[in-house]
Amino acid sequence: ATPAEEKDLVIIGGGVGGYVAAIKAGQAGLKVACIEKRGALGGTCLNVGCIPSKSLLNNSHMYHQILHDTKNRGIDVGNVALNLPKMMEAKNTAVSGLTKGIEFLFKKNGVEYIQGEGTFEDQHTIGVKLASGEQTSVRAKNIFIATGSEPTPFPGLEIDEKKVVTSDGAIAFNEVPKKMIVIGGGIIGLEMGSVWSRLGAEVTVVEFLSSVGGPGMDLDLAKSSQKFLTKQGMKFMMNTKVTNGDASGEGVKLEVEAAKGGKAQTLEADVVLVAIGRRPYTKGLGFENIGLETDNRGRLVIDSEYRTKIPHIRVIGDCTFGPMLAHKAEEEAVAAVEYLTKSYGHVNYNAIPAVMYTSPEVAWVGSNEQELKEQGVKFRAGSFPFAANSRAKTNLDTEGFVKFLADAETDRILGVHIVGPNAGEMIAEATLALEYGASTEDVGRTSHAHPTLSEAFKEAAMATYSKAIHY
Ligand code: FAD
Ligand code: NAI
Repeated sequence: ATPAEEKDLVIIGGGVGGYVAAIKAGQAGLKVACIEKRGALGGTCLNVGCIPSKSLLNNSHMYHQILHDTKNRGIDVGNVALNLPKMMEAKNTAVSGLTKGIEFLFKKNGVEYIQGEGTFEDQHTIGVKLASGEQTSVRAKNIFIATGSEPTPFPGLEIDEKKVVTSDGAIAFNEVPKKMIVIGGGIIGLEMGSVWSRLGAEVTVVEFLSSVGGPGMDLDLAKSSQKFLTKQGMKFMMNTKVTNGDASGEGVKLEVEAAKGGKAQTLEADVVLVAIGRRPYTKGLGFENIGLETDNRGRLVIDSEYRTKIPHIRVIGDCTFGPMLAHKAEEEAVAAVEYLTKSYGHVNYNAIPAVMYTSPEVAWVGSNEQELKEQGVKFRAGSFPFAANSRAKTNLDTEGFVKFLADAETDRILGVHIVGPNAGEMIAEATLALEYGASTEDVGRTSHAHPTLSEAFKEAAMATYSKAIHY
């Protein structure tokens, strides 16, 4: 193959981190190419993560609501039926529309899209096995690695994506399983467990720890979220570990016992979802050819400007440190390009929101109570229940609350934690407040439209520095 012209920047991986960096670099006038092997842009998030899961969450919620929550709203419905192939089609349409949209944005911003798998040949050359089968290579002054993550496997349980699945299989079942066991009560477990529980599966979540939600979730949110999901029909086995699995028969058998040890018990299910976390994915990148290494958790080590020890090679997104979230990868992508083109960039890791798209939604930003206590920070907490908010009451949608945590002396907001209707949209206001260094009094003195759910946000802030009016 003839080596093509040298690019200013080549990005390996066309997920959220990679494609955003490519567009940003194109906008800055760099000669940029993005290598992606999966046959579509958008990575985990658009193809098998955020987008398909949210499509199924939205539509399964509508189905569940039509079945169980219309009578007292004055709507009589009959003959409600699930058309799963159609629901999957709606999901696929959302995915393909968005991934094609990125191809369009690449063209618009002069980004070359190379479809194939990239491997380092040397520190400036990336060999590419093209989707067509041919081999080529591309030279670059700068390289970003944005190869994302993969599900952490569960030792002893082989994934076939039919009976024993990761989220990849759980967004694509062609029938509703009768019995489903979810190993891991983190975000994937609760989101995908919700989808199939709403569509009729009997779902049991087996969680090693005493609280659900995975790392970072405030214990008050975890407790109430588990309570709401239990009310919806999901079952939870907390403080429980899976010790063995057998998928050789018709269904799947799992041996479980108390996390501290104890009597074993066998659970049976049609399908098992393994959702015990994700790990960085850097397979096949040819690090041996350039002398790069990962740490003991598979992460590429970088400095504050995303540089590896080979300074023109930078790393962003799930394959390095920090929360594995699409919007975190996106912030890093923009910052890494800015470090390259302007020598400065900005990501505030303390103000990256997290949202779990269950019903009700759970969302938070900043520090949680456990973390502040561990750090010995003196703080005040104030909260406001949606049951006292006029709009939530009007909408018959009153589950949950908003909780602020603020510095006891300065009143500066340290964290905001919400479980309730539209929490995922509401957290944007909290993130802005945190980013701007606002106090709870700043928020409490800001007018919020009536009647809106956001008044619960304002009143929770008021309850932190003074008193709420309506509670
Ligand atoms: P990825 O999106 O994983 O992209 C990496 C890309 O690199 C992949 O497409 C891969 O094919 C490609 N690649 C790897 N190696 C090579 C190579 N050698 N050559 C060429 N290409 C290569 N996050 C949220 O913020 N909100 C959500 O609601 C949310 N929901 C999720 C739901 C699920 C079920 C899952 C699994 C994840 C979810 N996430 C969510 C997490 C989110 O998907 C990731 O944080 C995000 O995709 C990370 O982006 P990335 O660019 O770092 O990696
Ligand atoms: P997670 O880290 O959120 O949760 C994993 C859970 O599994 C934890 O509660 C952990 O205690 C438990 N666990 C670990 N080993 C176990 C074992 N052997 N037995 C029983 N339980 C065990 O990981 P998850 O849910 O797989 O998601 C991975 C990542 O994907 C998340 O960290 C998140 O960054 C991202 N994601 C984000 C979403 C969002 O933003 N809405 C949605 C889905 C995924």
